[in-house]
Amino acid sequence: MARSGHSSSAWLLLAAAVLFATGAAAQTTNCSSASFPAGRSFHSCISLPVLGASIYYTYHAENGTADVAFRGPSGTNGWVAWGINTEQANSMSGSSVFIATQNGNGVVTVLPTFLESTAPSLTPGNLRFNVSGAPAAEYSAGAYTIYVTVALPGNSTVQNTVWQAGPLVNGQISPHPMSAPNLQSTMRLDFLPGGNRTTAGAPNSTLPRRNLREFQG
Ligand SMILES: *[C@@H]1O[C@H](CO)[C@@H](O)[C@H](O)[C@H]1NC(C)=O
Ligand SMILES: *[C@@H]1O[C@H](CO)[C@@H](O)[C@H](O)[C@H]1NC(C)=O
Ligand SMILES: *[C@@H]1O[C@H](CO)[C@@H](O)[C@H](O)[C@H]1NC(C)=O
Ligand SMILES: *[C@@H]1O[C@H](CO)[C@@H](O)[C@H](O)[C@H]1NC(C)=O
Ligand SMILES: *[C@@H]1O[C@H](CO)[C@@H](O)[C@H](O)[C@H]1NC(C)=O
Ligand SMILES: *[C@@H]1O[C@H](CO)[C@@H](O)[C@H](O)[C@H]1NC(C)=O
Repeated sequence: MARSGHSSSAWLLLAAAVLFATGAAAQTTNCSSASFPAGRSFHSCISLPVLGASIYYTYHAENGTADVAFRGPSGTNGWVAWGINTEQANSMSGSSVFIATQNGNGVVTVLPTFLESTAPSLTPGNLRFNVSGAPAAEYSAGAYTIYVTVALPGNSTVQNTVWQAGPLVNGQISPHPMSAPNLQSTMRLDFLPGGNRTTAGAPNSTLPRRNLREFQG
């Protein structure tokens, strides 16, 4: 017979599980509410400051890789992306990213691509670092999760990370909104356990209107 304290904990856990299963928690994907499929677990987690997203990661010092799971809320008619900018801080341009999308049947795919500019070609491949195995993604309870193991560029634990979310129009990746959260979605992250991180304040990513027809960099 469980003591009453344990019973109420169990009830809270059950309530959280039901919320997650029904998708009601989709807008609060964060560290305390995270769960992953069997076989996936991560050492560290950060609730990112904008776009309701979270990043989970495990750094392997012996070979300089990091297992990453990026989770970002989205409707079924949207995309999310996570990546590392090897070229500059506080910018989408120069980032190697993994973009998760889905088709009308709910089949989720990941596009690894390098963002050459604020109007990138979205050509598959050409990443500025190596990945181990194939990136994967899933969509569940109103959020995408992207899984990728990266060889941290320059074997440095400190990287300029980026994330983003935007709409699919006729199934195609379309520009993200230009509202403040979409312009603040960069973070200098130290993948070492307990490592440092700095989020961008007001990055210089405000772009001319004419670029809005393209995926923003
Ligand atoms: C994280 O999610 C939990 C459960 O949904 C919620 O209670 C909490 O406020 C969230 N925290 C943040 C920082 O969003
Ligand atoms: C890196 O090290 C981790 C931990 O030992 C291991 O699981 C993983 O397979 C290694 N990755 C590569 C590419 O060697
Ligand atoms: C990366 O650096 C770690 C120590 O910081 C070292 O053990 C590892 O061999 C390096 N990996 C590569 C691929 O250079
Ligand atoms: C990727 O790995 C290959 C083989 O180890 C290496 O030659 C290449 O320089 C790596 N690429 C990058 C961008 O680090
Ligand atoms: C963390 O980063 C900030 C901003 O770059 C810096 O001021 C601070 O000293 C760093 N803290 C540690 C423990 O490295
Ligand atoms: C923004 O641009 C200005 C002028 O080019 C520059 O001085 C400043 O350092 C930049 N800020 C960031 C966060 O890149």
